[in-house]
Amino acid sequence: MKNHVWRPLYVALGIVAMILVARELYVPKDFGIHERGYMYGWHRKSDETYWKNFKVKYKTSEYCKGCHEDKYADIKGSPHGNIMCENCHGPALGHPADPPTLTIDRSRELCVRCHSYLPYKTSGRGKIRGINPETHYPEAECVMCHYPHNPKREAKK
Ligand code: HEC
Ligand code: HEC
Ligand code: HEC
Ligand code: HEC
Repeated sequence: MKNHVWRPLYVALGIVAMILVARELYVPKDFGIHERGYMYGWHRKSDETYWKNFKVKYKTSEYCKGCHEDKYADIKGSPHGNIMCENCHGPALGHPADPPTLTIDRSRELCVRCHSYLPYKTSGRGKIRGINPETHYPEAECVMCHYPHNPKREAKK
């Protein structure tokens, strides 16, 4: 073959060789496909202990059910039934030991995040019933009139 064919071929082979050498040097030895196959197996074996000890921040509403039965019963089946408690109260993490209580946010911002009217009919967010926070009783907190754990009900005050 002619020189002009060989020369670029050497360059290409050289690049492949460099990639193989770099992989050998830099990819940790315990990285690979482990017991669970290609789909979930690509990881470092030594990372498994790290993830086993990793503290999960969010626990879902099921976790709250046992101790706050009343709130759980109120919200299930209400228009807010799909919203996780932690969406409004923050991550449970070590609750109730640490933190002993979770955040109670009575600000209008908490609700306006989902209820400020948006004119985008095709987006999921646009389908949530909206108000204009500047004209909808701007002087008061939403929870003075709406009960957050069942917004169909009036706030009990
Ligand atoms: C093992 C029982 C337990 C679980 C599970 C639990 N809590 Fe609590 N929670 C408590 C206790 C005890 C308090 C303190 C009550 C107090 O001091 O009035 C508390 C307080 C709170 C408060 C503050 C109440 C106040 O009046 O200041 C909020 C909000 C709260 N929890 C939300 C949640 C949410 C949301 C979850 C689920 C992610 C949850 N809790 C799971 C036991 C629990
Ligand atoms: C849409 C937001 C939202 C969601 C979802 C929500 N909360 Fe609340 N929660 C609030 C607000 C706001 C208050 C304060 C209400 C007030 O002071 O009138 C509150 C108050 C509380 C309190 C303490 C005050 C009280 O009334 O006794 C507890 C406990 C609580 N929520 C638990 C829960 C649990 C458990 C869930 C899930 C089953 C949940 N919340 C879901 C917004 C929410
Ligand atoms: C994470 C998003 C989200 C947050 C935060 C939220 N809501 Fe909602 N809310 C919804 C959804 C979804 C519905 C049900 C769909 C609808 O009615 O448009 C709803 C329904 C409502 C309704 C209509 C109830 C009816 O008559 O059917 C009111 C009123 C309401 N929410 C008030 C509040 C108040 C007050 C807060 C703050 C404490 C709040 N929401 C926080 C998502 C949210
Ligand atoms: C002074 C009491 C009061 C306050 C404060 C208040 N609302 Fe309302 N809200 C009402 C009443 C009454 C209605 C039903 C009649 C209407 O649409 O005005 C209503 C209706 C709604 C609806 C349903 C609208 C619809 O199209 O059906 C939503 C959503 C809502 N409010 C969210 C909020 C949010 C979010 C806040 C705080 C930013 C808030 N409200 C503050 C009294 C109040």
